Amino acid sequence: MKDDLLKLVEQHGTPLFILDHDKIRENYRTFKKQLPRVQCYYAVKANSTQQIVETLFKEGSSFDVASYNEYMQVYQYIKHFDTKEKKHFVWDKIIFSNTIKDRTTLQKIKQYKPLVTYDNVAELKKIKDYCDTAGLIIRLKVPDTGSQVEMSSKFGAELADAEKLIQQAFDMGLKVEGISFHVGSQCTNFDNYTSALAFTSEIFHNARKKGFNLNLVDIGGGFPVPYDPQVPEFKQLAALLNSEFKRLFPDDIEILAEPGRFIVATAALLISEIIGKARRDGKIFYHINDGVYHTFSGVVYDHWIPNFTAFKEGEKEICAVVGPTCDSFDKITLSAELPGNLEVGDFLYTENIGAYSTASSTKFNGFDGAKIIHKNLPAPEEK
Ligand SMILES: Cc1ncc(COP(=O)(O)O)c(C=O)c1O
Repeated sequence: MKDDLLKLVEQHGTPLFILDHDKIRENYRTFKKQLPRVQCYYAVKANSTQQIVETLFKEGSSFDVASYNEYMQVYQYIKHFDTKEKKHFVWDKIIFSNTIKDRTTLQKIKQYKPLVTYDNVAELKKIKDYCDTAGLIIRLKVPDTGSQVEMSSKFGAELADAEKLIQQAFDMGLKVEGISFHVGSQCTNFDNYTSALAFTSEIFHNARKKGFNLNLVDIGGGFPVPYDPQVPEFKQLAALLNSEFKRLFPDDIEILAEPGRFIVATAALLISEIIGKARRDGKIFYHINDGVYHTFSGVVYDHWIPNFTAFKEGEKEICAVVGPTCDSFDKITLSAELPGNLEVGDFLYTENIGAYSTASSTKFNGFDGAKIIHKNLPAPEEK
């Protein structure tokens, strides 16, 4: 593998972000296979590279979009559809999962029947005024204990308010289609899913008893990827979810999920180059040509701890790996176990860097960030 990577470096330079579309397809298919009842809406925010959207569109994926621009990234593949097909696609395969949408976005999507989430009364009023064609999903605040990224401090209706918010939507003449939650990203504590499903089920059945015909449950994202060997297997989570769906909900409801990380994290690898080496307070600092303002932005926004592997062998010691900018905040890790004999011009690689990395990379300090290259881009039958 290392030789192949070095050939790519010769061809493209560094930093180099290598995205494998076969792996994206494999992850999508695994998700579908392990959760056969669930419609998979790829959360575009995890990595909005257009080619990923295209690969997943060709696979038949649905999409979770957070903004009008993300919506347009999907829309470009359906713009040639006739009106009826287009309407059907937007209704069936796109969800606006951001519980807060600006008025302009709502106005623009009103011509369709979009599926949108909400968690407060002001949003309901806005939807009523600017996009009353929408189907609504109420998002609950659920436990996100132990998840790498928590969600519930910013999103979700309090459980005690949920039934009232459903009632208020119907009173305004809007239609609530179902209930959603997000247990936090990279959720390795599966009790979060169990509790969220139990709360959802109670609210779902109470609403139905009141005559509100909800028919959809959206289990959000959070599906963990194997960053380290302690992460429990997805198969285990899928078995738990499948049995809870059966136990808690009628067979005829639709179940949706919004996986982001699970689809793309393991599909990318980054090669960086050592551009400086210094000993600071006795520790080796490797300065590389990518950092937290660029592809390693997940260290900040995603609370991610990246891994580094050297191409060269050598006696290992604890080193710092830091980014290229003139900012002392740009430290990727202070505890990478790397050979101490690496020099300027040597390369490192980082696996599982496909999610929440290039998506939030900036151009800070004039650095462009990594070049993205694609492996296995066309679907196999089109090769
Ligand atoms: C509403 C919503 N859905 C889905 C996702 C994707 O989550 P994950 O990458 O954990 O699967 C996110 C991530 O922030 C989100 O905010």
